[in-house]
Amino acid sequence: MAGLLDNHIAVVTGAGSGIGRAIALGFAREDAMLAVLDINGDTAAKTAADIRAAGGRAHAFTLDVADRQACRAVAARVASDVGRVSILVNNAGINRRNAFAGEPDAVIKDWQDIMAVNLNGLFNVTHAFLAPLRAAKGRIVNIASIQSFVHVRTPNSPAYTTSKHGVLGFTRALAAELGKDGVRVNAIGPGLIETPLNEKVRATQPELVKIFLDHTPLGRTGKPEDIVGPALFLASDLSAYVTGAIVMADGGYRTI
Ligand SMILES: NC(=O)c1ccc[n+]([C@@H]2O[C@H](COP(=O)([O-])OP(=O)(O)OC[C@H]3O[C@@H](n4cnc5c(N)ncnc54)[C@H](O)[C@@H]3O)[C@@H](O)[C@H]2O)c1
Repeated sequence: MAGLLDNHIAVVTGAGSGIGRAIALGFAREDAMLAVLDINGDTAAKTAADIRAAGGRAHAFTLDVADRQACRAVAARVASDVGRVSILVNNAGINRRNAFAGEPDAVIKDWQDIMAVNLNGLFNVTHAFLAPLRAAKGRIVNIASIQSFVHVRTPNSPAYTTSKHGVLGFTRALAAELGKDGVRVNAIGPGLIETPLNEKVRATQPELVKIFLDHTPLGRTGKPEDIVGPALFLASDLSAYVTGAIVMADGGYRTI
Protein backbone atom coordinates (compact mmCIF):
# COMPACT_ATOMS: atom_id res chain seq x y z
CA MET A 1 0.00 0.00 0.00
CA ALA A 2 1.29 3.47 -0.88
CA GLY A 3 2.43 5.67 2.00
CA LEU A 4 0.72 8.91 3.02
CA LEU A 5 3.31 11.00 1.16
CA ASP A 6 3.70 8.88 -1.97
CA ASN A 7 4.65 11.06 -4.98
CA HIS A 8 5.75 13.95 -2.76
CA ILE A 9 9.16 15.58 -2.56
CA ALA A 10 9.76 17.07 0.90
CA VAL A 11 12.38 19.57 2.03
CA VAL A 12 13.18 19.61 5.76
CA THR A 13 15.54 22.28 7.12
CA GLY A 14 17.68 21.56 10.18
CA ALA A 15 17.13 17.86 9.45
CA GLY A 16 20.53 16.77 10.75
CA SER A 17 19.33 16.63 14.36
CA GLY A 18 16.39 16.41 16.74
CA ILE A 19 12.90 17.19 15.50
CA GLY A 20 13.91 17.80 11.87
CA ARG A 21 15.75 14.49 11.66
CA ALA A 22 12.75 12.62 13.11
CA ILE A 23 10.37 14.31 10.64
CA ALA A 24 12.66 13.51 7.68
CA LEU A 25 12.85 9.84 8.69
CA GLY A 26 9.09 9.72 9.31
CA PHE A 27 8.24 11.30 5.94
CA ALA A 28 10.57 8.86 4.16
CA ARG A 29 8.77 5.94 5.85
CA GLU A 30 5.57 7.29 4.23
CA ASP A 31 7.24 7.16 0.79
CA ALA A 32 8.23 10.84 0.34
CA MET A 33 11.49 11.63 -1.42
CA LEU A 34 13.53 13.76 0.99
CA ALA A 35 15.81 16.75 0.53
CA VAL A 36 17.62 16.91 3.87
CA LEU A 37 19.03 20.39 4.58
CA ASP A 38 21.26 21.46 7.47
CA ILE A 39 24.02 23.96 8.17
CA ASN A 40 25.98 20.92 9.34
CA GLY A 41 26.67 18.98 6.16
CA ASP A 42 27.87 15.90 8.05
CA THR A 43 24.67 15.45 10.06
CA ALA A 44 22.54 16.16 6.96
CA ALA A 45 24.45 13.43 5.12
CA LYS A 46 23.96 11.06 8.08
CA THR A 47 20.18 11.60 8.11
CA ALA A 48 20.01 11.00 4.35
CA ALA A 49 22.20 7.89 4.66
CA ASP A 50 20.01 6.52 7.47
CA ILE A 51 16.90 7.09 5.33
CA ARG A 52 18.47 5.24 2.41
CA ALA A 53 19.65 2.42 4.71
CA ALA A 54 16.03 1.99 5.83
CA GLY A 55 14.91 1.67 2.20
CA GLY A 56 13.87 5.29 1.64
CA ARG A 57 14.98 7.99 -0.79
CA ALA A 58 16.96 11.07 0.28
CA HIS A 59 19.47 13.67 -0.87
CA ALA A 60 21.50 15.84 1.52
CA PHE A 61 22.43 19.51 1.06
CA THR A 62 24.47 21.83 3.26
CA LEU A 63 22.57 25.07 3.85
CA ASP A 64 22.69 28.00 6.27
CA VAL A 65 19.10 29.23 6.14
CA ALA A 66 20.28 32.71 7.18
CA ASP A 67 22.09 33.04 3.83
CA ARG A 68 19.48 34.18 1.29
CA GLN A 69 21.64 33.60 -1.79
CA ALA A 70 22.58 30.14 -0.60
CA CYS A 71 18.88 29.33 -0.14
CA ARG A 72 18.18 30.27 -3.75
CA ALA A 73 21.16 28.23 -4.94
CA VAL A 74 20.05 25.14 -2.99
CA ALA A 75 16.49 25.50 -4.26
CA ALA A 76 17.87 25.45 -7.82
CA ARG A 77 19.97 22.36 -7.06
CA VAL A 78 17.02 20.57 -5.46
CA ALA A 79 14.92 21.36 -8.56
CA SER A 80 17.54 19.91 -10.90
CA ASP A 81 18.84 17.00 -8.79
CA VAL A 82 15.68 15.90 -6.93
CA GLY A 83 12.59 17.37 -8.60
CA ARG A 84 9.60 19.61 -7.85
CA VAL A 85 9.19 20.19 -4.14
CA SER A 86 5.63 19.80 -2.82
CA ILE A 87 6.29 19.88 0.96
CA LEU A 88 8.47 22.29 2.93
CA VAL A 89 9.13 21.87 6.66
CA ASN A 90 10.75 24.99 8.12
CA ASN A 91 12.35 23.44 11.19
CA ALA A 92 15.86 24.94 11.51
CA GLY A 93 16.05 27.03 14.66
CA ILE A 94 18.27 28.08 17.54
CA ASN A 95 17.65 29.17 21.13
CA ARG A 96 19.63 30.91 23.89
CA ARG A 97 18.85 31.42 27.55
CA ASN A 98 20.13 34.97 28.29
CA ALA A 99 17.69 37.33 30.01
CA PHE A 100 17.03 40.71 28.36
CA ALA A 101 18.53 42.57 31.34
CA GLY A 102 21.64 40.40 31.25
CA GLU A 103 25.07 41.10 29.76
CA PRO A 104 24.33 43.60 26.92
CA ASP A 105 26.66 42.15 24.26
CA ALA A 106 25.17 38.67 24.79
CA VAL A 107 21.62 40.03 24.57
CA ILE A 108 22.37 41.88 21.33
CA LYS A 109 24.07 38.85 19.82
CA ASP A 110 21.13 36.62 20.82
CA TRP A 111 18.72 38.99 19.09
CA GLN A 112 20.74 39.14 15.88
CA ASP A 113 21.48 35.41 15.66
CA ILE A 114 18.00 34.21 16.61
CA MET A 115 16.25 36.58 14.19
CA ALA A 116 18.73 35.64 11.43
CA VAL A 117 17.93 31.93 11.71
CA ASN A 118 14.41 31.63 13.17
CA LEU A 119 12.77 34.44 11.20
CA ASN A 120 14.97 35.53 8.28
CA GLY A 121 15.79 31.87 7.66
CA LEU A 122 12.09 31.04 7.56
CA PHE A 123 11.56 33.81 5.03
CA ASN A 124 14.61 32.93 2.92
CA VAL A 125 13.82 29.23 2.52
CA THR A 126 10.09 29.71 1.94
CA HIS A 127 10.74 32.41 -0.66
CA ALA A 128 13.34 30.28 -2.42
CA PHE A 129 10.94 27.31 -2.73
CA LEU A 130 7.77 29.32 -3.40
CA ALA A 131 7.55 28.64 -7.15
CA PRO A 132 7.58 24.83 -6.94
CA LEU A 133 5.29 24.86 -3.90
CA ARG A 134 2.72 26.94 -5.77
CA ALA A 135 3.03 24.81 -8.90
CA ALA A 136 2.53 21.64 -6.83
CA LYS A 137 -0.31 23.04 -4.67
CA GLY A 138 2.06 22.20 -1.85
CA ARG A 139 2.11 22.25 1.91
CA ILE A 140 4.28 24.28 4.27
CA VAL A 141 4.77 23.19 7.90
CA ASN A 142 6.52 25.67 10.19
CA ILE A 143 7.95 24.59 13.55
CA ALA A 144 6.68 27.14 16.05
CA SER A 145 6.57 26.62 19.85
CA ILE A 146 4.53 27.13 22.98
CA GLN A 147 6.51 30.37 22.88
CA SER A 148 4.40 31.42 19.90
CA PHE A 149 1.90 32.30 22.66
CA VAL A 150 3.70 32.60 26.00
CA HIS A 151 7.09 33.22 27.50
CA VAL A 152 7.93 30.02 29.38
CA ARG A 153 8.33 29.90 33.13
CA THR A 154 12.03 29.00 32.83
CA PRO A 155 14.85 31.41 31.88
CA ASN A 156 14.83 32.05 28.17
CA SER A 157 15.86 34.65 25.64
CA PRO A 158 13.03 37.07 24.78
CA ALA A 159 14.40 36.99 21.24
CA TYR A 160 13.31 33.34 20.97
CA THR A 161 9.77 34.09 22.16
CA THR A 162 9.58 37.00 19.74
CA SER A 163 10.83 34.88 16.85
CA LYS A 164 8.31 32.10 17.55
CA HIS A 165 5.42 34.59 17.74
CA GLY A 166 6.71 35.67 14.30
CA VAL A 167 6.66 32.10 13.00
CA LEU A 168 2.94 31.91 13.83
CA GLY A 169 2.25 35.31 12.26
CA PHE A 170 4.09 34.30 9.09
CA THR A 171 2.13 31.03 9.00
CA ARG A 172 -1.20 32.86 9.17
CA ALA A 173 -0.19 35.54 6.63
CA LEU A 174 0.96 32.96 4.08
CA ALA A 175 -2.09 30.77 4.67
CA ALA A 176 -4.30 33.76 3.89
CA GLU A 177 -2.38 34.68 0.75
CA LEU A 178 -1.57 31.27 -0.72
CA GLY A 179 -4.83 29.45 -0.03
CA LYS A 180 -6.22 30.50 -3.42
CA ASP A 181 -3.20 28.76 -5.02
CA GLY A 182 -4.06 25.56 -3.16
CA VAL A 183 -1.01 25.90 -0.90
CA ARG A 184 -1.73 25.06 2.75
CA VAL A 185 0.42 26.63 5.47
CA ASN A 186 0.31 25.39 9.07
CA ALA A 187 2.47 25.26 12.18
CA ILE A 188 3.32 22.84 14.96
CA GLY A 189 3.82 24.06 18.52
CA PRO A 190 6.13 21.64 20.36
CA GLY A 191 6.58 21.77 24.13
CA LEU A 192 9.83 20.67 25.74
CA ILE A 193 11.20 18.04 23.37
CA GLU A 194 14.37 16.14 24.27
CA THR A 195 16.89 17.24 21.63
CA PRO A 196 20.44 18.62 21.59
CA LEU A 197 18.86 22.11 21.66
CA ASN A 198 18.15 21.72 25.39
CA GLU A 199 20.49 18.84 26.28
CA LYS A 200 22.69 20.96 28.55
CA VAL A 201 19.77 22.47 30.45
CA ARG A 202 18.20 19.05 31.00
CA ALA A 203 21.51 17.64 32.23
CA THR A 204 22.54 20.48 34.52
CA GLN A 205 19.31 22.17 35.66
CA PRO A 206 16.72 19.53 36.61
CA GLU A 207 14.81 22.18 38.57
CA LEU A 208 13.97 23.93 35.27
CA VAL A 209 12.67 20.68 33.79
CA LYS A 210 10.56 20.21 36.95
CA ILE A 211 9.02 23.68 36.56
CA PHE A 212 8.08 22.72 33.03
CA LEU A 213 6.70 19.29 33.91
CA ASP A 214 4.66 20.64 36.83
CA HIS A 215 2.80 22.62 34.18
CA THR A 216 2.40 19.76 31.69
CA PRO A 217 -0.71 17.56 32.07
CA LEU A 218 0.91 14.55 30.39
CA GLY A 219 3.73 14.83 32.95
CA ARG A 220 6.64 14.03 30.68
CA THR A 221 8.96 15.71 28.22
CA GLY A 222 8.45 15.00 24.53
CA LYS A 223 10.62 13.00 22.14
CA PRO A 224 11.36 14.09 18.54
CA GLU A 225 9.10 11.22 17.39
CA ASP A 226 6.17 12.93 19.15
CA ILE A 227 6.30 15.62 16.45
CA VAL A 228 6.27 13.22 13.49
CA GLY A 229 2.53 12.44 13.63
CA PRO A 230 1.44 16.09 13.66
CA ALA A 231 3.89 16.83 10.83
CA LEU A 232 2.56 13.92 8.74
CA PHE A 233 -0.99 15.10 9.36
CA LEU A 234 -0.22 18.65 8.19
CA ALA A 235 1.89 17.56 5.20
CA SER A 236 -0.53 14.94 3.88
CA ASP A 237 -4.08 14.87 2.50
CA LEU A 238 -5.30 13.98 6.01
CA SER A 239 -5.42 17.75 6.61
CA ALA A 240 -6.85 18.76 3.20
CA TYR A 241 -9.16 21.44 4.72
CA VAL A 242 -6.70 22.73 7.34
CA THR A 243 -4.69 25.91 6.80
CA GLY A 244 -3.46 28.75 9.00
CA ALA A 245 -3.64 26.42 12.02
CA ILE A 246 -1.20 25.52 14.74
CA VAL A 247 -1.22 21.98 16.11
CA MET A 248 0.13 21.98 19.65
CA ALA A 249 2.29 18.98 20.56
CA ASP A 250 3.16 20.10 24.06
CA GLY A 251 1.76 17.52 26.48
CA GLY A 252 -1.03 19.99 27.22
CA TYR A 253 1.24 22.82 28.44
CA ARG A 254 -0.87 25.54 26.86
CA THR A 255 -4.17 24.25 28.21
CA ILE A 256 -3.46 25.06 31.88
N1 LIG B 1 13.42 20.97 21.44
C1 LIG B 1 12.42 21.68 21.90
O1 LIG B 1 12.06 21.60 23.08
C2 LIG B 1 11.67 22.61 20.97
C3 LIG B 1 10.46 23.13 21.41
C4 LIG B 1 9.75 24.00 20.58
C5 LIG B 1 10.23 24.30 19.31
N2 LIG B 1 11.42 23.76 18.92
C6 LIG B 1 11.89 24.12 17.58
O2 LIG B 1 12.12 22.94 16.84
C7 LIG B 1 13.09 23.20 15.83
C8 LIG B 1 14.15 22.12 15.86
O3 LIG B 1 14.82 22.16 17.11
P1 LIG B 1 15.48 20.89 17.79
O4 LIG B 1 15.04 20.89 19.19
O5 LIG B 1 15.30 19.70 16.95
O6 LIG B 1 17.01 21.38 17.81
P2 LIG B 1 18.37 20.70 17.35
O7 LIG B 1 19.42 21.63 17.81
O8 LIG B 1 18.42 19.26 17.74
O9 LIG B 1 18.27 20.74 15.75
C9 LIG B 1 18.31 21.94 15.06
C10 LIG B 1 18.99 21.69 13.72
O10 LIG B 1 18.98 22.91 13.00
C11 LIG B 1 20.25 23.10 12.43
N3 LIG B 1 20.50 24.53 12.22
C12 LIG B 1 20.78 25.47 13.16
N4 LIG B 1 21.00 26.65 12.57
C13 LIG B 1 20.84 26.45 11.23
C14 LIG B 1 20.94 27.28 10.10
N5 LIG B 1 21.31 28.57 10.21
N6 LIG B 1 20.70 26.77 8.88
C15 LIG B 1 20.36 25.45 8.75
N7 LIG B 1 20.28 24.61 9.77
C16 LIG B 1 20.51 25.11 11.00
C17 LIG B 1 21.23 22.50 13.42
O11 LIG B 1 22.49 22.20 12.81
C18 LIG B 1 20.47 21.27 13.88
O12 LIG B 1 20.74 20.16 13.06
C19 LIG B 1 13.62 24.61 16.12
O13 LIG B 1 12.94 25.53 15.27
C20 LIG B 1 13.22 24.84 17.55
O14 LIG B 1 13.07 26.21 17.85
C21 LIG B 1 12.14 22.91 19.71
